[in-house]
Formats: sequence, C-alpha cells, structure tokens
Amino acid sequence: MRFFVTAYHHNLLRDYERLSGFYEAIKEHAHGIVYDIGAGSGILSYFAAPYSKTVFAIEKDEKIASYASRNLEGLPNVRVVNRDVLLYDFPFQADTIICEMLDTALIDEEQVPVVNKCLEHLKEDGRIIPYGVINGAEAIEMDSETIRYDENYQYKTRGSLTIYDIIKFNKRVDEKFKKTFKVPANGRINGLKITTFTLLTENIIAGPTEMMNPPLLIPLEEIKQENYMIKVTLSYKMGGGLNTIKAKIKDIEDQHEYKKRT
Ligand SMILES: C[S@@+](CC[C@H](N)C(=O)[O-])C[C@H]1O[C@@H](n2cnc3c(N)ncnc32)[C@H](O)[C@@H]1O
Repeated sequence: MRFFVTAYHHNLLRDYERLSGFYEAIKEHAHGIVYDIGAGSGILSYFAAPYSKTVFAIEKDEKIASYASRNLEGLPNVRVVNRDVLLYDFPFQADTIICEMLDTALIDEEQVPVVNKCLEHLKEDGRIIPYGVINGAEAIEMDSETIRYDENYQYKTRGSLTIYDIIKFNKRVDEKFKKTFKVPANGRINGLKITTFTLLTENIIAGPTEMMNPPLLIPLEEIKQENYMIKVTLSYKMGGGLNTIKAKIKDIEDQHEYKKRT
C-alpha cells in the first residue's frame, strides 16, 4: 500500500520500530468504536480498521487530513474528520482511543491536554494506546547552554539512569510537573539528559526511536567531583513547550554516604 504524506509524516512512516510497537498494541487491543487522534497519514487508523467497528481518524491539519482521506478511502469503516480534537464533539463513547502526539517527557506536544480531554469520552472499560510513558534522567557533560534534543549533538554521560516519573494515560494527568529527585554522577557535569520510554501497552515498551522521543538535554550549573549524588528539582508543563522547563541543583552528597543511609 502506498501512502500520500508530507515529508514529516514520511519520516514517521519510515520509523519501523515506532510503527511495529503501535501495530502490536493496536492488534491486541483495538476494538469497537475507535478514535485515532492526530491521525496524520492515517497509518494507525489503517492498522486499527480490521479490528474495529468504526474508526474516526481526527486530524486538525487540513492538508494532512486530505492525504489521510485519500490513503484510507478503500476502508468502509474509517471516517476521516478534519478537526482540532479539542473542539470536536465525539459522536459516541470510545472503546479505544489511539493518540500519538508523543514527545520527550510529553512537554512539547499536546498529548497530555488532548488525552485528558478524550478521557471524558472513553467508556469505563475503554483503553488508551499508548498506555503511558516512563521518564528517566542522567547526569551529563554537555557543551550547549540551551535546552536541546540530542540528535547529532555531542555529550558525555556521567552517571546511570534514574526513573523519576511514570505516567499512565487512563487517569487524568496533572499537566504541571514538579519533582525533586537524586541522580548519581561522577566527574564534571553541567546537564541532565531526559529519556522517555513509551508503554504502548502494560507489556510493550518502546525506547526512544528515530522519530519518537529523542532524548532531551537540559543545562544545569557545573559541578565536578568524584562519585556523588545530585539532588535536582525539575519542573515543566506538559503540553506547555520547552520554555516551561526549569532545572536546579538543590544539593550534592557523597555516594558512599548516600548508600549508607538508604
Ligand atoms: C506525531 S503526528 C502522528 C501522526 C500519526 N498518528 C502517525 O502515528 O504517524 C501527530 C499528528 O497530530 C496532529 N495534531 C496535533 N494536535 C492536534 C489536535 N489538537 N487535534 C487533531 N490533530 C492534532 C498533527 O497535525 C500531526 O499530524
């Protein structure tokens, strides 16, 4: 099957790791009334159609929605709707909601505000794909003083990953995130690397892929010591954009002292 797409959606379609994870989750769980929110080229609606009664493919961009209509025109149970989902009147309660507006830590895309709204239209036993995300942080040494994604950018990891947040989309998510947590470090550090793993279902996890959740690098003040723990406060607004991110070191502690205490 040949899909008509924009350059961006073409790259999304070429990311087979992303697509195969979604395909498995959809094959396992999509049924009944399905909404594919932010349908783009329509690929996830195409996956869902054989398992569903009706698929509503909602896409706000007019040009992309017209491509999706063309791509899905042979499928009698799929309807493409060119609408911003935040203004959309859901005609039926959903058995399954598919929503791929993911980005690292859910900060720069609308996944959380959109899924929060969609929950009102999900049956009690309904399901959201993806199921959730897991966010982790690592201490790094980086050259940039600005927040940036790690694509084609040099940095050195100076510690191991600490999981600092697990989000499940089946309950309303507070868009404002603020937490203080500790990450191990060794040597010179001046940044934090955020990595997001996607839980496509409770059991299928997808790491960052070429087009989904490239790790995010956030500058911190510089510290240079051996084997220490950094206590950092991180805050942002999910769906609010990268300029809502704030990260600050609160304290540092020797790793041996930390291990003795915990
Ligand atoms: C990351 S792309 C995913 C496309 C497709 N689902 C896929 O997996 O290839 C997200 C899509 O969501 C659409 N989108 C973003 N906000 C939206 C909104 N509020 N309502 C409907 N569509 C939206 C964008 O135009 C874009 O096509």
